[in-house]
Amino acid sequence: MKSQFESVKQDFLSLLSTVQQAEDLEQVRTEFLGRKGKLAELMAGLKELPPEEKAEIGKVANEVKRAMEEAYERACRTLEAYVVAEKEWIDVTAPGQFPPAGHLHPVSQAIAEITDIFARLGFTRVPVPEVDWDWYAFEALNMPKDHPARDNWETFFIDAPEGKRGKLVAVPHISNLQVRGMEQFALPFRMLYIGKAYRRQNDASHLPIHHQFEVLMVDRDVTLAHLKGVIEYFVHEYFGHDRVVRFRPHHFRFTEPSFEIDISCDICQGTGKTASGLCRLCKEGWLELAGAGMTHPNVLKAGGIDPEAYSALAFAFGIERTMMMREGMKVPDIRVLYGNDLNFVTQF
Ligand code: DAH
Repeated sequence: MKSQFESVKQDFLSLLSTVQQAEDLEQVRTEFLGRKGKLAELMAGLKELPPEEKAEIGKVANEVKRAMEEAYERACRTLEAYVVAEKEWIDVTAPGQFPPAGHLHPVSQAIAEITDIFARLGFTRVPVPEVDWDWYAFEALNMPKDHPARDNWETFFIDAPEGKRGKLVAVPHISNLQVRGMEQFALPFRMLYIGKAYRRQNDASHLPIHHQFEVLMVDRDVTLAHLKGVIEYFVHEYFGHDRVVRFRPHHFRFTEPSFEIDISCDICQGTGKTASGLCRLCKEGWLELAGAGMTHPNVLKAGGIDPEAYSALAFAFGIERTMMMREGMKVPDIRVLYGNDLNFVTQF
């Protein structure tokens, strides 16, 4: 009878080792450990044994029972762990899932690129204050108090006490840095500055705050040829070498002579016409981009520079406009640029 117990145990153990699913395990348990299972059947036979054998075989029977129950518990735990592992299985060779990382705003991208282009020509970038004295924003730029030219810059005045250099303004253009630069840097110098211009305007084609970049180069014998060369270099680097630059005479108080700068339109190749009629972007072949000129002697004087010994060139572009023109973008409302609309921004 001892060997019968042993062989039930062996059969049970070897069956257990093949079990892979919970239902199979339950079946094996019922067959061997259930109330009417093989072990119970053998146990029932113990009653019929003579008392001296009963003690000895009973002991074996109990050991076998305990061993089988323990083996069953172990099998349960293994199966459980196996099921969990199967559920949590990961393929370590599968490509990862990247969270959306975002990117710089298209205007910030343009600023980085512009900084890079002028660095190649030796222009050092300097920061621009967002508020400044009337003197730097206007007077030093050859626009005396009450001069009508000031009306072109619809200026925000800061509600603050007047200083030695007049009222405080939210800079309406970044040309306030011209005389600041002349005061700060040793001659000769080339500087690039990029900042925000605040103006009392807010409609489909004007932002109350827009970005500008401006360059100022002061040296002996700076000429119109330099002005043309620097602007053309920028336009060709930023827009492409097929673009043509046009200088249109204009008037600014702080430059003489003064120009507005146009570049040929990319969409109609400077003709103003496309197969379907007038060019949708420019209508006339040219896009107006910048103000430029040779620095007025009065401005050099305001910065403590002798206009007989030195000359200077300066020009400024609006960045939103410049960036949109490169993209061939004509939006019905320029304010979409700052609307935080991801559908718009993620196109860049
Ligand atoms: N400051 C002018 C504006 O914002 C633009 C400008 C015109 C800048 C001519 C210049 C320049 O440096 O030479 O309207």
